[in-house]
Amino acid sequence: MDEMALYPVIGEEGFARLVAAFYRQVPNDDILGPMYPAEDLHGAEERLRDFLIGRFGGPQRYIEQRGHPRLRMRHGPFHIDQAARDRWMKLMDNAFAEAALPAEAEQHLREFLSQVATFMIHQGA
Ligand code: HEM
Repeated sequence: MDEMALYPVIGEEGFARLVAAFYRQVPNDDILGPMYPAEDLHGAEERLRDFLIGRFGGPQRYIEQRGHPRLRMRHGPFHIDQAARDRWMKLMDNAFAEAALPAEAEQHLREFLSQVATFMIHQGA
């Protein structure tokens, strides 16, 4: 599936459902909970949602508001080891189960997220 074709398939609503289901789990997670800003979880949810929407052919709100994603740099302050990466993907898998997106869209998105998550692993911080 062409990456750009995902937005027309699942729309704002599909991305919103997935990302909301992910962030609903974050506050109670022992690894990820402490990393995310408790006072601005709603903002964090919006940033990931808008990033994905822009990445997959929807409106470019993320870039308009935040500029170039520079994801490696923006994740620099957080301690992202293999365990944190695997937990992030675990919560995302739960979110996929809840969001019930079309199978092909889910597979494509999961592959993308899994690759980027691995790329975010870094030493330090
Ligand atoms: C590997 C595990 C990951 C961890 C532990 C992690 C953790 C975090 C944390 C703590 C934040 C700050 C929340 C905020 O205030 O926005 C953040 C931001 C963000 N993350 Fe991740 N993340 C991970 C993987 C990913 C992946 C796979 C993607 C996308 C494919 C992603 C996309 C983003 C985006 C777009 C932001 C907002 C950046 C900004 O504009 O400031 N993250 N992440």
